[in-house]
Amino acid sequence: MIPSSLQTKSLKEIVTDNFHTAAVFEKYSLDFCCRGGKTIDEACKDKGIEPASVLNDLAFIENAAELSNVPFTEWEPDILCDYIVQNHHAYVAKIIPVLYMHTRKIAAVHGANHPELLSIAEHFEVVALELQQHMKKEEQMLFPFIKKIYAAKKHNEPAIHAPFGSVQNPILLMESEHENAGDEMYAIRSLSNNYSLPVDACTTYRVTFQELQEFELDLHRHVHLENNILFPKAIALEQEMISTN
Ligand SMILES: [Fe+2]
Ligand SMILES: [Fe+2]
Repeated sequence: MIPSSLQTKSLKEIVTDNFHTAAVFEKYSLDFCCRGGKTIDEACKDKGIEPASVLNDLAFIENAAELSNVPFTEWEPDILCDYIVQNHHAYVAKIIPVLYMHTRKIAAVHGANHPELLSIAEHFEVVALELQQHMKKEEQMLFPFIKKIYAAKKHNEPAIHAPFGSVQNPILLMESEHENAGDEMYAIRSLSNNYSLPVDACTTYRVTFQELQEFELDLHRHVHLENNILFPKAIALEQEMISTN
């Protein structure tokens, strides 16, 4: 049975309610992060996909009682920041040098027969450089500030004034950088024809495509936690602190 709420909620609301639904949207290349405000019907129409297939897959996930759902929405902002850094940032930092090497290697070996591999390596270089800078900004500026305002609230201390004005300013920048990273990965997905392997693909070719797919999946989950859960919590927290001081 397909729950009627799936047809009225936005993609990001569906993922916020149940994190496991992200895999379904990833399967159909439907964006639940940066452009996640659309309903399934609207998003499918844009991509020329049949909504019934997406709804059936989602219903399977929703009805799968054995799948536990991590209640990220209930987590405190400081715990969320630590979780993101320890899991998603650590993964990105670890996999970037590996993917640099692999995307360049397959471009060098197979680029003559598959020229799209040269573009894929270039797009990966762009997204990797951007994400390294991006994570530094979150770890050194935004997340410590979010943790500070949360600690001030917990200890009934006065509101903290950020050097960058409102927390909404760096959040806007982070969201626009997320969008850029998502666009780069979407370009890689399109260039690779949804990571389809040619008959002459060697093992490194196969591994690289698997790694790129995992990288994209992790990016979507990472961005979802920030855009749809952590950032709204931080904005609400700052507003609450200002209004009570
Ligand atoms: Fe992040
Ligand atoms: Fe981010």
